[in-house]
Amino acid sequence: MIKSTLLQAIDAGANELKKYFNGTFTISNKGTLNDLVTEADHASEKAIFSVIQNNHPDHFILSEETGEMPTASTTKWIIDPIDGTINFANGIPICCVSIGVEQDGKMILGAVYNPFMNEMFIAEKGKGATLNGQKIQVSNKSDILSSCLVTGFPYQYLDTENGPLQIFEKLIRKAIPVRRLGSAALDLCWTAAGRFDGFYEHKLQAWDSAAGFLIVEEAGGKVTDLKGNPYSPYQPGIIATNGKIHASLQGVINGGSL
Ligand code: IPD
Ligand code: CA
Ligand code: CA
Repeated sequence: MIKSTLLQAIDAGANELKKYFNGTFTISNKGTLNDLVTEADHASEKAIFSVIQNNHPDHFILSEETGEMPTASTTKWIIDPIDGTINFANGIPICCVSIGVEQDGKMILGAVYNPFMNEMFIAEKGKGATLNGQKIQVSNKSDILSSCLVTGFPYQYLDTENGPLQIFEKLIRKAIPVRRLGSAALDLCWTAAGRFDGFYEHKLQAWDSAAGFLIVEEAGGKVTDLKGNPYSPYQPGIIATNGKIHASLQGVINGGSL
């Protein structure tokens, strides 16, 4: 029942993305320059809420543009109505709807859908991860020096030791390809599908990673915080890899050399 609601909800959100993509829509700033929200983000969120609330009116919802809608329920829907909003606003078809379902503090279901590439990633705790119904698995590469990585950068420059630019520079100086798609949820899914060997980012929110984190784990990958502790979507840093390059990438992110 929860899974069918999840699929209906993600479809409802994605229909709004398709409706607005490359059309005209209002865009506003959320505080810092270039941290945008579009009319489509709100429309997607509204469509998703309507499906969830019709089917499970008692469930807790946490969604990027509305925040928390708490209830007494221990089932929580964690929603990013558009992940990759800057891409969306520029007509770049690398964006998605991301919805994770947490029960009693554990992620049990996650779905990420990019309607422009027609790619639907789904994971169910203990049952594996799929892309358009086909099982997916992380890559097999064990040498970080021949890996293909992906990362993202926060909206506000993070001026810290071992910050995003220092790590990026260290990897690039070794000629390791580090892509930047602009959608953390897709970065995670593409790692789950073996297109990337690893993903890291310094500052994410729960809605960016809740679904993708389960998708990587269920595809056989490893997900931790920047220090290597078990991952929680409620803290900012993430390393998600095929498992084999995890220790090397974690070392680099914590000041080690390559
Ligand atoms: C952003 C994207 C981006 C990541 C940012 C996120 P949004 O989410 O996931 O890849 O680098 O940190 O905020 O704003 O497009 O939903
Ligand atoms: Ca996001
Ligand atoms: Ca978003």
